[in-house]
Amino acid sequence: MVTPKLPPRLNLADTPTPILKLERLSARFGIEFHVKRDDLTGLLESGNKVRKLEFLVGEALEQGADTLITCGTLQSNCCRAVSAVAARLGLKAVLAVKGEKPAVYDGNLLLDKLLGAQVVYCSEAEFAQIDQVLSRLSAEVRGRGGRPYVIPESGATEVGALGYVACAQELAEQIRHGAPAFDTVMITDFSGGSQAGLLMGKQLSGLAAEIVGIPIADPAARVRDYITATIRSAAARFDLAVEPPKTVHLVDGYQGLGRGQIRDEELATIVTLAREEGIVLDPVYTGKAFLGLLDRLRRDPKQFGNRVCFIHTGGVFSLFPFRERLSRLLDGTAEQSP
Ligand SMILES: Cc1ncc(COP(=O)(O)O)c(C=O)c1O
Repeated sequence: MVTPKLPPRLNLADTPTPILKLERLSARFGIEFHVKRDDLTGLLESGNKVRKLEFLVGEALEQGADTLITCGTLQSNCCRAVSAVAARLGLKAVLAVKGEKPAVYDGNLLLDKLLGAQVVYCSEAEFAQIDQVLSRLSAEVRGRGGRPYVIPESGATEVGALGYVACAQELAEQIRHGAPAFDTVMITDFSGGSQAGLLMGKQLSGLAAEIVGIPIADPAARVRDYITATIRSAAARFDLAVEPPKTVHLVDGYQGLGRGQIRDEELATIVTLAREEGIVLDPVYTGKAFLGLLDRLRRDPKQFGNRVCFIHTGGVFSLFPFRERLSRLLDGTAEQSP
């Protein structure tokens, strides 16, 4: 992918990330079931965000920015990843988070504070007008003589998606060097930006696998529209020879109660994978998506082909604020099987 229009890419992620076979789940479903450990991209286990930030912060530095501004929930992985990258590179981070200041910091918010980010707490109503909040924070940074760069929630821009173009190219390279030729690569969707990147990277690298997303919050139609729009804008802006696929494959129906609301069956899925394979998912994103994947495989083990790879996009720190519910689940239920 050599094109002069791409923003400069920083080297932030520990890549290539390993691909591991899930032995017990493979045996259970009679398929080869793998996980690509993008939760191990480094910079405080910042998951899929580090790949996006390689390009987003590359662009920020190119524009002379010294302050990264972003937004999200109190337990936002994106906010924590931006805080970690800012601290690593000697930049400032300003975070607009939805919710009230808690008496005790926990999970990602604890790390944001530890990493020195300025945290601005927003009410539901303020967060509903987040663009105005981000403009106000940018103006405040400029007023102090700083140079802001705004990263929207989840790093969801065509620049952020380039991180997952690179991931698809990395996967194609790993397959050329002996990793299984996957029939399907699955990823968790919030915005759909990571899946958009994978779909572009598939076209650019000749990766044969179907790319399938599992939306965990928004309706499938909204995620699909975002993916299509992101691919179109990336193609136009960066001169990439890519186009939206005729079908964007999504596994729908596993949004549960929405983004912040976690059900016991989603927590139970995390317990299952931890105990059976020693891999820890997060409650808000990957736990929900994995529940969906297991549910589909239970109905028809071969529906995604014989070789399936789930990309683990990280998020482990948001487990800790669920400590009370998890403790009840762990004490009350010795063996969980989804
Ligand atoms: C752990 C984790 N997985 C998946 C996603 C979804 O990424 P995207 O917005 O690119 O669909 C996020 C984003 O918020 C995340 O934090």
